[in-house]
Amino acid sequence: MKPKVFVTRVIPDAGLNRVKQFCDADIWPEDMPPPYESLIQRVKGVEGLLCLLTDRIDANLMDAAGPQLKVISQMAVGYDNIDIAAAQARGIRVGNTPGVLTEATADLTWALLLAAARRIVEGVQYIRDGKWRTWEPKALLGADLSGATLGIIGLGRIGKAVARRAAGFNLSLLAYSPSLTSEEAAEVSARRVELHELLRESDFVSLHCPLNPETRHLINRNTLAMMRPTAILINTARGGIVDQRALYDALRNGVIGGAALDVTDPEPLPLDDPLLTLPNVTIVPHIGSASKWTRDQMAMMAADNLIAGLKDEPLPNQVRR
Ligand code: DGY
Repeated sequence: MKPKVFVTRVIPDAGLNRVKQFCDADIWPEDMPPPYESLIQRVKGVEGLLCLLTDRIDANLMDAAGPQLKVISQMAVGYDNIDIAAAQARGIRVGNTPGVLTEATADLTWALLLAAARRIVEGVQYIRDGKWRTWEPKALLGADLSGATLGIIGLGRIGKAVARRAAGFNLSLLAYSPSLTSEEAAEVSARRVELHELLRESDFVSLHCPLNPETRHLINRNTLAMMRPTAILINTARGGIVDQRALYDALRNGVIGGAALDVTDPEPLPLDDPLLTLPNVTIVPHIGSASKWTRDQMAMMAADNLIAGLKDEPLPNQVRR
């Protein structure tokens, strides 16, 4: 008999077909994620759960599933939606999908950085509003990249991929993560500095750290006040790293120059969120890993983690605390 699993959304066929081949899969068919209460119902009796970052996977849910639950496989590299300690306490292994989305996320980071620096979204709107009457010497002036400084907070896989792309733009690089060494930073031509120094000296600040209790609201009123009035903040990590109310005030009052966000808190951002009223913020809907190849790889990796967990084999990518 095939092991029972619940898959919380229709994922790309590349992964889903593997899951269906090996498992008796109950697949949530809707575009919107299962509400928490439905999740609780659907996990009862399953041995495996394949979930997304939109699902809250807590101790209560694990207990509702039952003691036969062996593996939780998340189709994402980030796993702040999963209570890892609760899973470990119950002997449930958790898998994630690092590596395959590194380049796509680094590409999007640069897309956002360039869009914010050169005011691309404002320019598009300018035309649509019928304001483009001639070539204007002083309209839509943005920031230069060449000779500027990019500060990377969190020099892990994605942070390093962002750093590697900087060479082509002639940017200087600063980097900060708590355990980062100068030697490791130098491998991607970055200088390791403390957080306050990075914030003070960077023209662009890009976030690539995980969301955890230490990084929640790392960017807040105090840290925003350390940044340059022209600085641009880019976030392709997690919305919760930024205190959004403080960011709104900083953008509105000229404490910093602009922001470009792939992630917000909450997601989706409500349409009446004040951030959406500002011209100097560009927001896209959490699409860092949204390329065809990348999502196929993520789905396959999530399927492989799930199946390995069901077979009591080592997971290709297991989350360890
Ligand atoms: C992840 O994998 O954590 C990303 O945020 C999804 O693209």
